[in-house]
Amino acid sequence: MERELAVELVRVTEAAALACARWMGRGDKHMADQLAVDAMRAGFDTVQFDGIVVIGEGELDEAPMLYIGEHVGAGGEPVDIAVDPLEGTNLVAKGLNGSIAVVAVAPRGSLLHAPDMYMEKIAVGPEAKGRIDLTLPIGENLRAVADAKGKDVSDLTVVILDRDRHRAMIQACRDAGARIKLISDGDVAPAVAAAFPESGVDVLMGIGGAPEGVLAAAALKCLGGDMQGRLKPENEQEFLRCQSMGLADPTAVLTLEDLVKGDDVVFAATGITDGDLLRGVRYSGNSMASTHSIALRCKTGTVRFIEAQHRLERKPVWAKGNRLNV
Ligand code: FBP
Repeated sequence: MERELAVELVRVTEAAALACARWMGRGDKHMADQLAVDAMRAGFDTVQFDGIVVIGEGELDEAPMLYIGEHVGAGGEPVDIAVDPLEGTNLVAKGLNGSIAVVAVAPRGSLLHAPDMYMEKIAVGPEAKGRIDLTLPIGENLRAVADAKGKDVSDLTVVILDRDRHRAMIQACRDAGARIKLISDGDVAPAVAAAFPESGVDVLMGIGGAPEGVLAAAALKCLGGDMQGRLKPENEQEFLRCQSMGLADPTAVLTLEDLVKGDDVVFAATGITDGDLLRGVRYSGNSMASTHSIALRCKTGTVRFIEAQHRLERKPVWAKGNRLNV
């Protein structure tokens, strides 16, 4: 894929973030999401690839844009696209930390077409690559990660979605002695943050969305980190759905390579609200806004943080989201 693609994708995630960021704290997650989707969809029209959305807003009957199977892009190389124009809709609606606009692109057939169901995940940065195993007890995983990072388990910070289903996992982390950061939503950003020591995150663990798992895996592939996932079909229909995707054993552990094949993946994300790694959108008056993004290219391992200043009145698609009906 083209070398410039990761930076091109940042334009797309910036557009999505700018389109919805004014809706922070306004309690309307659907409006925020819709604006982000519209802006991201429009942003793809200028990117030179023949993309098929494999991780998107849902099936065609539930999502009019960025639905699974939709073709996007201005034509070119055939690629798979994974998108979440607003990852963490509740976070924006409530003005909480951790929401991002996010995209991953890889050659056609490289991204797991993860169905919209839950996935158990564990994600770590490069130092702990090869030291995680979803089949082993949580304490063992934490001791292996701590050892790999030259830390005590009590130095580790594990991020977990604050859900009842995680009670036993949280207890196991506490028993092992790790620090825990419970979050209300948005498990992609902390998985990416685990690859950056300055983020203060060492491990992302728990059951969240399977599509979000593929997005996180794309970033960790680029960053040399590691991740495992295990789909959690909750009924026969979901089980059969996994099998129809070619997963003979839907509950098998998926490695990073199973989630994202090869090393030709690119990833981009822009902060919407503040997070451990990316700052959220800031407004400085005079129709100016700033964004903070990350662009990753797996082939070269280049990590770019991109700060940008935007003149909102010159971009119609952003201006739309910035006109509040108050
Ligand atoms: P949305 O952006 O679609 O609201 O999803 C946010 C999210 O928190 C994901 O980051 C996470 O993987 C999933 O939802 C968790 O699902 P649930 O809220 O059902 O536990």
